[in-house]
Amino acid sequence: MSDIILGIESSCDDTSAAVICDGVLLSNVIASQSVHEAYGGVVPELASRAHQQNIVPVVSEAIKRAGIDKKDLSAIAFTAGPGLIGSLLVGTSFAKGFSTALGIPMVEVNHLHGHVLAHFIKEDDTTEVPHFPYMCLLISGGNSQIIIVEDYNKMRILGQTIDDAAGEAFDKCAKVMGLPYPGGPYIDRLAAEGDASRFKFSKPHIPGLDYSFSGLKTSFLYTLRDALKSDADFIEKNKADLAASLQRTIIEILLDKLKKAVALHPEIKQLAIGGGVSANSGVREAVADFCRQRHLKAFIPKRTFTTDNAAMVAIAGYFKYKDGQFCDLDIAPFARVEV
Ligand code: KG4
Repeated sequence: MSDIILGIESSCDDTSAAVICDGVLLSNVIASQSVHEAYGGVVPELASRAHQQNIVPVVSEAIKRAGIDKKDLSAIAFTAGPGLIGSLLVGTSFAKGFSTALGIPMVEVNHLHGHVLAHFIKEDDTTEVPHFPYMCLLISGGNSQIIIVEDYNKMRILGQTIDDAAGEAFDKCAKVMGLPYPGGPYIDRLAAEGDASRFKFSKPHIPGLDYSFSGLKTSFLYTLRDALKSDADFIEKNKADLAASLQRTIIEILLDKLKKAVALHPEIKQLAIGGGVSANSGVREAVADFCRQRHLKAFIPKRTFTTDNAAMVAIAGYFKYKDGQFCDLDIAPFARVEV
């Protein structure tokens, strides 16, 4: 009999549901919330309300597109955290109700594990997946971590951000430039047209494999503030060069620690990236180049599986399901946690 898992993701501002059958993706539906654009960031209260409106239609659509009946489901995997608590409550409560109604088990998924395990989502039998152990650079709106993935459910953090995440650096600097939220994709597009060597921003000098992005954000802000004093159109005239220079600096910061981590772990032969910032063209290219130079096998995810999606929750849930790791109905979501 097949193992059919419904995945539910509601940790931030995307309501998503996906169906996976024996590890192969049948459907992945994502409803993004445009309501936050006007506020320059995610408004937690509005996110919870939008999840509440979206969750039933999104799950119904995922089941329909998968070509199955809800009675065929073997288990429900849902994101239990980390994330916005009001958003997580919607997905968690829905999973509890649905699993009780169908009489099937629930599997709680750590959102970060989902990003890391996204490489195991098979769209067909030709999908190439990493072998353990591999290294993963997890870069999203809330996290920047270098991880050794020892098994589906065993991960070791080598380094992580001590302040802002890489995605926050993109988004906060984009906001200073007056770009819409989330700014990461706008910076990516503008950077393609700009001169990446035009502006210099400060880079952190912290020991070990941890990251820091708050100094870069301040340096970016001060550069713009000073330039605007003599030229009110400075941002508009230089937006492509600013974006390209910012993107280059973020990539240099990311790669600097990644190179150190690889040098410290010669047993690692495969390098993966995951999380929303791994959609960035410059990041993808830089990691692929680095892997070519070091003869490492690179795993660069499809863009659909970089930002928040339920396919990654379903696949992470599938491996826990196969391992018999279920949760009880008294499970409560959590806002913060490490990998
Ligand atoms: O993984 P994700 O959807 O949410 C979290 O789990 O945090 O990541 C969202 C982040 C945002 O900061 C967004 O600006 C960034 O990913 N992002 C990008 C790109 N696409 C999404 N950053 C840079 N370039 C992109 N193309």
